[in-house]
Amino acid sequence: MCYIMRSRPPTAAILSSVLPLVLRWNQVPGQTSVQSSCPSRVMFSMLVVDPDLIDYNGLKLSFGSWSSGIYQISISSDVNHASSRTPGTHLAGGNGRPVEGAITFKPDNSSYWFHFFSDGVTHLTSKPLPPGKEYKVLVGRGSGGTGPFYGKFGRALTETSDPPPGSLVLGSHGDVYAPGGQSVFKDPVSGRYVMVYHYVRKNETFDGQSYLGINFLDFSSGWPVVVD
Ligand SMILES: *[C@@H]1O[C@H](CO)[C@@H](O)[C@H](O)[C@H]1NC(C)=O
Ligand SMILES: *[C@@H]1O[C@H](CO)[C@@H](O)[C@H](O)[C@H]1NC(C)=O
Repeated sequence: MCYIMRSRPPTAAILSSVLPLVLRWNQVPGQTSVQSSCPSRVMFSMLVVDPDLIDYNGLKLSFGSWSSGIYQISISSDVNHASSRTPGTHLAGGNGRPVEGAITFKPDNSSYWFHFFSDGVTHLTSKPLPPGKEYKVLVGRGSGGTGPFYGKFGRALTETSDPPPGSLVLGSHGDVYAPGGQSVFKDPVSGRYVMVYHYVRKNETFDGQSYLGINFLDFSSGWPVVVD
């Protein structure tokens, strides 16, 4: 099973490869429908992007949204429909805070679940962004897969003040600029944890190609640390 995301700004939908729509949103006056191969017309009240599925007391799907926050709902075991009300549990961001690409992950040996997200603006223009506004990978942790998640200093990821809650995993450094869009998994060959992400190079045209970054993560301190 896999999920795909279709986006045609300003709306987007998460679609299941199996059948119709995982999420159905109530019609909101004045909003446009997504043109897609989906059998039914659907209306959205927020951007529904960046699906992440975990198995924690049943299947849970998180998604969203850049400025409206990250939410999580229950999904039926046949993965064809939401089995809890949308938008669901608020996990991070919201209130205009730029947060997206969230994933929830539990290392085997950890008693914590970690909620990784990209904070800021992904790099799409030829000019650098104001310092600190570019993408970076932040994380919070919690005792379960449905939150609440907190940064190292105890601030909940749902707080929307500046600086953002959550602890830095990876930010711009050297020629690596605006890393984000991360995914985390356990490498079955080495048995180690891996984070993959995209970034652009400071010493190249900002709106040129993106690169794929791959690093191991070490969770032994209780927080993920990027290592070679
Ligand atoms: C988990 O802990 C076991 C026992 O301490 C260790 O052998 C194993 O390497 C650890 N796995 C990871 C991925 O850290
Ligand atoms: C930019 O820097 C990276 C290493 O930091 C290097 O591999 C790459 O070739 C550089 N690109 C250019 C155009 O110099």
